[in-house]
Amino acid sequence: MESEFNLESFDIKLDTDVIGRNFIYSEEVSSTNSILLDKAIGNVHGTTLLAEKQIKGHGRKDRVWYSMKGMNLTFSVLLTNKKYFTRQFNFINFAAGLAIALSIENLFQLKTELKWPNDVLINGKKVSGILIESSSKGEKLERVVVGIGLNINQTIFQGSFNIPPTSLKNETEQTIEREKLLAELLNVFEETLENVVTNPKWILKEWKQRCRMIGEKISVTEDDKVKYGIFDDIDENGFLLLRTNKKTEKIYSGDVSIA
Ligand code: BTN
Repeated sequence: MESEFNLESFDIKLDTDVIGRNFIYSEEVSSTNSILLDKAIGNVHGTTLLAEKQIKGHGRKDRVWYSMKGMNLTFSVLLTNKKYFTRQFNFINFAAGLAIALSIENLFQLKTELKWPNDVLINGKKVSGILIESSSKGEKLERVVVGIGLNINQTIFQGSFNIPPTSLKNETEQTIEREKLLAELLNVFEETLENVVTNPKWILKEWKQRCRMIGEKISVTEDDKVKYGIFDDIDENGFLLLRTNKKTEKIYSGDVSIA
């Protein structure tokens, strides 16, 4: 059932300094990412926009992100503080993925899996996806928007998916309080984000611990080209290292599957 988002119970549980302090709640938008990318919304670092419905919710590779109104969490966080832009985006991606995984683990004691580059899975099914978009002025990055879609109380998914979808309700058989989860997620995200700057090794270690494909035979698909090999490791910049007979190749993006 669709439920109203209770701003008060969210606010009580939010324990951050900046992330989510400027909070915008909306019934319907085009896409939370697109709205925060637009300067018209302002430049406050940590601004978080939650929408009950997106008309143009999108994912990686221009895929559509479907989410039933009032059931899930579809939101974006705006980053404008330049100190987070010194590393590869992979690290912001990893910080967001880890925050989703840790908050699910903390609240529901569920085992999560992180799939390179930015999916969160439970029991082999996708519960959440992340889309990072940015805008620059000349050479300089101005704003980075971290968009998160997290399936919470939706139980039926229609359409065709490259990874089967799931929700927390499907995995726990409980209706989940969205306010509590969003507050926990933002609390943890503020910490993981700090670690992008102060302790990137920790980010990589925690992320890799949850990435079960390392060591496996995989296929990587990018623009209709498929490459096969062993998922050797993730390098210090967050790129996938694919080992084939002759060499180890660095993979910058693509869809990864077990071969
Ligand atoms: C993916 O798995 O490809 C990423 C999905 C990201 C979806 C979220 S929902 C909130 C934000 N707004 C968007 O339009 N996309 C992201």
